Formats: sequence, structure tokens, C-alpha cells
Amino acid sequence: MRANLVSPSASHLSYAIRDIVKFGEVVRRHGVEVTWENIGDPIAKGETVAPWIRGIMHEVVELNDSWGYCPTEGFLEAREALAAHVNLRPGARVGSNDIIFFNGVADAVAKVYGFLSPHARVIGPSPAYSTHSSAESAHCALPHLTYDLDPDNGWLPDLDDLRRKIEKNPSIAGILIINPNNPTGAVYPVAVLEEIVNLAREFCLFLVADEIYIHMVFPGVETVHLSEVATDVPAIVMRGISKELPWPGSRCGWIEVLNRSADSNFSSYVDSVVAAKRLEVCSTSGPQLAVPRIFGDPRYTGHLAARAQMYADRAKEAGEALQDVPGIRVHPAQGAFYMTVLFEHGALDGENRLTISDSELREVVASQCKGAAADARFVYHLLASRGICVVPLTGFYSPHPGFRFTLLETDDAKRAWIFRTLAEALVEYLESVKG
Ligand SMILES: Cc1ncc(COP(=O)(O)O)c(C=O)c1O
Repeated sequence: MRANLVSPSASHLSYAIRDIVKFGEVVRRHGVEVTWENIGDPIAKGETVAPWIRGIMHEVVELNDSWGYCPTEGFLEAREALAAHVNLRPGARVGSNDIIFFNGVADAVAKVYGFLSPHARVIGPSPAYSTHSSAESAHCALPHLTYDLDPDNGWLPDLDDLRRKIEKNPSIAGILIINPNNPTGAVYPVAVLEEIVNLAREFCLFLVADEIYIHMVFPGVETVHLSEVATDVPAIVMRGISKELPWPGSRCGWIEVLNRSADSNFSSYVDSVVAAKRLEVCSTSGPQLAVPRIFGDPRYTGHLAARAQMYADRAKEAGEALQDVPGIRVHPAQGAFYMTVLFEHGALDGENRLTISDSELREVVASQCKGAAADARFVYHLLASRGICVVPLTGFYSPHPGFRFTLLETDDAKRAWIFRTLAEALVEYLESVKG
């Protein structure tokens, strides 16, 4: 008999953010116009990239190098510029060799976990961002290990839980931090980052920090880059331009390797990640040439500040629209462009429903809801009844029922409609089992 073709890791791959699209398409075939609030793509939601950034890309297109392969680790000029950016801050020092380009952070995630020994585990936050949790889980064909983010404490990491789990499990070799966080929108204070660095030092662990949203911290909120606090602990920091330009189609991201010389085993592991990248030849060339020109442009700081303010305003708008809905808790985002709604304990205990006028679609939703998590049932009803597609929180490796929506809608009237409709649907759904 032929050997099984299916990898033992296959069952560990899930991506709730796009999985929900399949059901969205079913709903659409029933004539419902769908508003996609599931994916963090500002371009898909109507944002256009600033003309001066487009201008830089036009210049790059004229460079012959942008059309060829580049060195596996990336163009030296880009790596030198990004290393210089890190070194402008206090904290860990890096050289151009410590900057390695990938086809987006998602590619870096695949390589970083994919070439980690299956006996070495990286514990990550719950709720989790599925690209990390699935890749970590797939690298060892075991369920992902998580520490709690505490919804009663602004979704900050529960450091006691993290310590307990590290103490109990010697296979834990690394800690993942996502700051600012997806899906919660929380931003970690310096003291929290310092505590995690201290834990890593105490237990001889390495850190992975996903900082794709680090330039999208709302005004008045304090945090730092990991490089500013991890001055002696080995770490891999992931950065990219998908969100902050925004240019998700560039498929361009990079890692900053911190304190590599402090740990020879960690250094050999990073070599293996680069060797894996070499098999793929290199990452996208053109965007690498654009990044130093964009980051070095005097308009960039203002560009980042304006976008952070824009998302802060939208987070306030969403919070105000949802604040009076009983049975939920809304966590105001402090960074990135997502917010979460959490259902209060017991709020989803009944056979809640939303009015769906099409009887055939009503049947489809009833069948989709069978055996589904309580928050996913709300998400299916919301899609069929109001056409808004959000992501259930349990899809993010979370025990807390809720959902994530985005702050990306660019049309002011449409965005107001989305937030208002979410509030109305929540009231109707949670009221539907009473009386
Ligand atoms: C936390 C986080 N990391 C990484 C990514 C993917 O980044 P990239 O487009 O660079 O692959 C996303 C996309 O939503 C994200 O939210």
C-alpha cells in the first residue's frame, strides 16, 4: 500500500481569518452583500498609498536591480539602512548581517518555526494570531502552547501564567510577543516587555517579537521596540511594510536578529533559517530598494503619525457605538487596526438568533451552527442577517467567546453603518433568548 501523503502537521494548519470567507461566499450566493471586516488589508478597504510613496516606487522600478534576484538575505544597501535605524534607538546593537529579508512576515514565520527543532517549543499569546500559532504547532505536530492575555487587564500578558507554564515545561525554548497585538489591539507597556525579557534571561530562552504594527501605536500610548529592552537576550524581531505603508502586496518583511553572539546554539539556528531561505533563492527585490528610501524620507514620520491618529479616532468611534450594548465588553484598541468584542459570561447560553428573512439561508445558517463554538454561531448569524463578516475569537486559539473586527473601512458613512449595525445586531442576538 502507498505511504500516507498527508503530513501529520496538516491538521494543525488553520487560519480563521480566511476560513470564514468560505461561509461568506455561501451567504453571498444567497444574494447578501457582504462587508468584509475579517482581513487586515487596508488596501482592500479602500486606502490608497500616499503619492510620495508611490513616487519612490516609480523611481525604484527604473533601477535595473529591482528586476533581478537579490542576495538571499536581501540587498546590502537595504540591510545597512535598516540596521542603522535599529541603532538610532538605545538598546541592542545590530549589524547588516543581523537583518534578513523575507517575503513578508508570514514567510519569516514559516521559516523561523519550520526550521526550529521539533523538540523546542515557542509559547505564544492566547488569543493568538493564527500564522504564528499554526506554524508553531505544525513544526512539531502538537497543539500550540499558549500563555493567557488577560481581558480583565486590558489584554496584557498574564505573566504569572507565563512563568508557571515555562517552569512546568522544559521543552519551552522561546516566547512569542506580538506588540501591538493582533487580534486584541493591545499595546504592551515597557514594564511588561522588561518582565518578559527577564523571564527569557532567567530560563535561558529566546524571544520572537512580531512588531509588524509597531509604527501604529496610538498617540499617548507608551511602548518600545523589543531591541530597546532586550539588550542581552537572543531574539528575532519581525518587521514589515504590509500595514504601515500600507503595502501588503509587496510581500516584503524582514527580521532583526538581536544578541546573536550571546548564544552559539541560537546563532546556528539562525544560520539554518537563512539556509532554508537560500533554497528559495531570495525575497522580492523591488520593495527592498524602496524601504530605505521611504524610511529615510522626511515625510515618513508625519505619515505614520497621521495614520496612528486616524485609527485612534476610529477606535473611539467604534467604542462609542458599542458602549451601551449590554452583555458584551469592548476593549478599546491602543494600536494596530483591530478591536475585539467579548461576550459576558452566560450571554450566549441560549439558542440565540438573528432574523434571516430568506428561509433557505436560515436553514444553511442552522446547519453551519451545529457543533460550532458559541461565538462562531453569532458570526454566522451576523453574516447572513447583516452581511458583516467578522472573525470569532475562538478562531484565535482563545477560550473567550467574542469576535474581532477591523477599523479599516475608509468610507465614513459606511464605517458608521458597520459600527451601528454591529451594535444593533448584538442587541437583537443577545435579546433573542429572553422572555
Ligand atoms: C501580527 C501579524 N503578523 C504578520 C502578519 C502578516 O504580515 P505580512 O503581510 O508581512 O506577511 C499579519 C497580517 O495580518 C499580522 O497581523
